[in-house]
Amino acid sequence: MKQNKVILIGYMGSGKSAVGLLLKKEIGLSFWDLDDYIEKQENTSIASLFSSRGELYFRSLERKCLDQLLADPNPMIIALGGGTPCYYDTMDFLTQNENTTTVYLKTSITELGARLFPTRISRPLIAHLQSEEELTEFIGKHLFERIPFYSHANFTISTDGQTSAEVAQKIATLLT
Ligand code: S3P
Repeated sequence: MKQNKVILIGYMGSGKSAVGLLLKKEIGLSFWDLDDYIEKQENTSIASLFSSRGELYFRSLERKCLDQLLADPNPMIIALGGGTPCYYDTMDFLTQNENTTTVYLKTSITELGARLFPTRISRPLIAHLQSEEELTEFIGKHLFERIPFYSHANFTISTDGQTSAEVAQKIATLLT
């Protein structure tokens, strides 16, 4: 594998973190979840960063933290946050960098709604949504804005009806 950073992108609930952990075992690279890295660096949760500093602060911090991980010369898998590729020049920057391979985990609106409804409280952008219908409508609009960024990924893998292990296995095959 010539690329030394494998970058997983996709909407919240698309399975980036779970797939990243399994892919780590499959291909033997280290793994960072960008949200976890930010929480460690700042010593606080993403939810409290959103509420105390606001989303714009969070967006600049996530780009700064991504740049730090990319500057590490060691090969690694990085799961981005759902919004990371959609701010600044991040998606172009990743696709133009020959050391990175971007993989979009593509999940349908209905499946995202079902996966995210039970855990929405811990996610600042969707915590306020009351019903699964409301959440699904929000996801539909939000995804429409984000797909133009996600669709530039080097590879796209559909995750609907797939286990994280199956998705990780497919990515491992693509990379070898
Ligand atoms: C966000 C996704 C979250 C986290 C933050 C914002 C987004 O990450 O970065 O709550 O804008 O979609 P996950 O996609 O890992 O849940």
